[in-house]
Amino acid sequence: MRKTIIAGNWKMYKTIKEAIELSNGLKRELFKLDKQGIDVVLCPPFTALSEVAEVLVESDILLGAQDLYWQDEGAFTGEVSAKMLQEAGCTFAIIGHSERRQFFGETNATVNKKIKAALANALTPILCVGETLKEREAKETFDVLEDHLHNGLDGLNKEDVLRMVVAYEPVWAIGTGKTATPEQAQEVHGYIRDLLRKLYDKETALQIRIQYGGSVKPENISALMQQPDIDGALVGGASLQVVSFTDIVKKAAEVIK
Ligand code: 13P
Repeated sequence: MRKTIIAGNWKMYKTIKEAIELSNGLKRELFKLDKQGIDVVLCPPFTALSEVAEVLVESDILLGAQDLYWQDEGAFTGEVSAKMLQEAGCTFAIIGHSERRQFFGETNATVNKKIKAALANALTPILCVGETLKEREAKETFDVLEDHLHNGLDGLNKEDVLRMVVAYEPVWAIGTGKTATPEQAQEVHGYIRDLLRKLYDKETALQIRIQYGGSVKPENISALMQQPDIDGALVGGASLQVVSFTDIVKKAAEVIK
């Protein structure tokens, strides 16, 4: 039985003050909910991690980073290591988000190093994979996913991948208001699980959680969560407000009840 995971990727939003306010609001509202044991993860920007970690003390909400660098320390101006993130209170790290691939030169090779660094520092990597609109239209979706997974997971064994989460985020659905239909998402999630079975084994594939991301909102989370291979959501825009994010968690909890 896979535990549902709902994560909020705040991207480059929220000053420290705003982040404290948002996390306090979420802590208060989510505490009132019967979350059915759902893992809820907040991923604020680096600057707010320590403060949000303070807010989350004595709550079961988890903290994640949006990226990391694979060396523990060194002359790498502007970078933040997995070790530093762990010390700041993180237990998760988003890796290979399409915005990093698109705007900051992230490749499968760097994604692979980052996953290994996360695992070595007790962080659960959330590996993001997904195709662009052009790739979908050219019917290359499955090839792109195979490339992201095969190369992103290079050299990782079964025990390693069992400590990971995969997030399917079709680039064309991110921040566009265009969600993949539940059927479109399920088709790809099923494909990813089958790929994991081929790369590892059935047992492993059945245990790995696969989240969907891309314009997830309170209005579409229930239908997405009803799909057999969708184990949660990675939420961008709708995670920036207490009401919408709480609603998403609440509706996901209702589906798994
Ligand atoms: P939106 O929910 O804003 O489309 O963003 C999705 C995303 O990129 C989460 O990582």
